[in-house]
Amino acid sequence: MVGCVCGIIIIKFMNKILKKEKLNENVSRITVDAPHIARAAKPGQFVVIVPTENAERIPLTIADTDTSKGTISIIFQIVGATTKVLDSLKEGVEIAHLLGPLGTPSHVEKLGTVVIIGGGVGIAEIYPMVKAMKKVGNEVITIIGARCKDLLIYEKELRTQSTELRVTTDDGSCGRKGFVSDELKDIIAAGKKISLVVAVGPVPMMRVCCDVTREHNIKTVVSLNPLMLDATGMCGICRVTVGGKIKFGCVDGPEFDGHEVDFKELTDRLKGYKDVEKRAMDHVCRLLGG
Ligand code: FAD
Ligand code: FES
Repeated sequence: MVGCVCGIIIIKFMNKILKKEKLNENVSRITVDAPHIARAAKPGQFVVIVPTENAERIPLTIADTDTSKGTISIIFQIVGATTKVLDSLKEGVEIAHLLGPLGTPSHVEKLGTVVIIGGGVGIAEIYPMVKAMKKVGNEVITIIGARCKDLLIYEKELRTQSTELRVTTDDGSCGRKGFVSDELKDIIAAGKKISLVVAVGPVPMMRVCCDVTREHNIKTVVSLNPLMLDATGMCGICRVTVGGKIKFGCVDGPEFDGHEVDFKELTDRLKGYKDVEKRAMDHVCRLLGG
């Protein structure tokens, strides 16, 4: 759609949901028609989505792109009002607003052995990084973990792209019983020379992985998930402290040196709007049912 405001030509892309799949009870994947974003996106970048005109803006990682079809894939966990609204949209529906690609892309280079760790919905977020790191010639050991087998996603896709895939579940229903950090400890204990660890997932998981690698002086990158609003470096809501300095997750990140991140501050700031978030979710559930 093309419009004209004060002499400025505005092109609005339709961002139609071409495909929608349930990966598990709480996680969905949508494939969206977004040729300009598909062409420009790099691993580690994200989009801001406003699912319907009155919904909030939320950041979601670009999990995959297909430049020949002009599409991007987004994988999201339903945790609150906006992800619930997004999940209610059916194939063929247009997303109200889609902005991206945003954020500083992942640093991809040939380093040797790279361990890439994904926990929960973070598993989907590591997929572009695994592909890119393998493509430039690294040995990529991927570790994925979830609470149980039913919550594991992307196992087949990551097995294809990685040199080696290791799986953990909290309850032992798939792979090793335990945490991703247990597998990481084993790889280090076996004497493997690791050039880089990348950890993406819940804050406690990323913090524990950093504690493990700090002892062994292994460089570790984490992808932070602070609350975001404009996602272009203007509002400051996404501020995080890294190496004693204030950084903006949306433009300086979302990836940072994990050994320098103030995880306690990040955790506290993520809890800041719990009451409002709960009220919004109750409201949306009443409107949509469920
Ligand atoms: P809310 O009502 O806003 O929140 C519900 C619960 O989720 C609360 O407990 C709240 O503390 C927590 N929450 C809210 N925002 C975040 C956040 N940014 N990170 C962690 N927890 C949050 N999620 C995905 O499922 N897939 C992705 O690919 C993905 N990529 C992201 C990339 C970036 C750069 C960032 C910053 C976040 C990403 N997230 C991703 C998290 C996602 O943005 C939030 O889950 C979403 O904003 C929640 O919105 P809501 O209205 O549904 O829930
Ligand atoms: Fe506003 Fe980052 S979200 S500055």
